[in-house]
Amino acid sequence: MDLAQRYPSLHVSRHPLVAHKLSILRDVGTDTKKFRELVRELTWLLGYEAMADLDTRPRRVETPLEAIEGAEVDPRVGLVPVLRAGLGMVDAMLELIPTAQVWHIGLYRDERTLKPVEYYNKLPDAATVQVCLILDPMLATGGSSAATVDILKAWGAARIKQISLIAAPEGVATLSGQHPDVDIHVAAVDRELNERGYIVPGLGDAGDRQFGTFAGPSSEPGHEPGDETAEVVRRLQRDLARD
Ligand code: PRP
Ligand code: URA
Repeated sequence: MDLAQRYPSLHVSRHPLVAHKLSILRDVGTDTKKFRELVRELTWLLGYEAMADLDTRPRRVETPLEAIEGAEVDPRVGLVPVLRAGLGMVDAMLELIPTAQVWHIGLYRDERTLKPVEYYNKLPDAATVQVCLILDPMLATGGSSAATVDILKAWGAARIKQISLIAAPEGVATLSGQHPDVDIHVAAVDRELNERGYIVPGLGDAGDRQFGTFAGPSSEPGHEPGDETAEVVRRLQRDLARD
């Protein structure tokens, strides 16, 4: 069955510009500067689609010719970039919705267990926004996004959406299994995770490609997987096949 039919919360962009830009983003020959530009442009396009159902309230406006009833976005919107790769998506979203608050969440994925580890969270006690848009280019195992949603729900966020550039089917299954109420907006859903938990064909490491932090082969997809990591991926793939 088609993934979008199986997971009603999944929205895969059909826009030709998204497909065009994503192909250049994936290209191993795309340098860091161009990569950052494309992350920004793709976020703009996906963010536009993800906010298509925001409520508006009437706003009286005087044009130079007459008064009309215009509109303004009603809910308070919070952008939640997941450090560090989500940082590159913030500026584009702020261009679209300059009144948004930005709340950073720091999570990294333990390379061995693929479990998210939280290292930064300065959310105040109670939610200050009604709609949260989680920004993270990669939805791989889904562990980081499901953990971010847990944090935001505990905070009191009423409505949450995830905006990612590329998802793996395993990540979509995890996130929509744990949080079916969270809309997932992506440019593409790729074939699968490899034994290190990287999305294939994917684009490699989104953080490293944006920030130029290539530390050598051990940090790159395709390097020797640990047994434990490969087992985590196999378990996710079994769960997906069983669904
Ligand atoms: C990447 C990515 C996501 C996470 C996705 O971050 O930006 O946050 O992995 O993987 P998951 O769906 O399996 O949890 P990473 O841990 O590499 O940290 P970084 O952004 O600091 O490089
Ligand atoms: N994080 C990335 O940056 N890329 C992947 O393929 C998976 C997780």
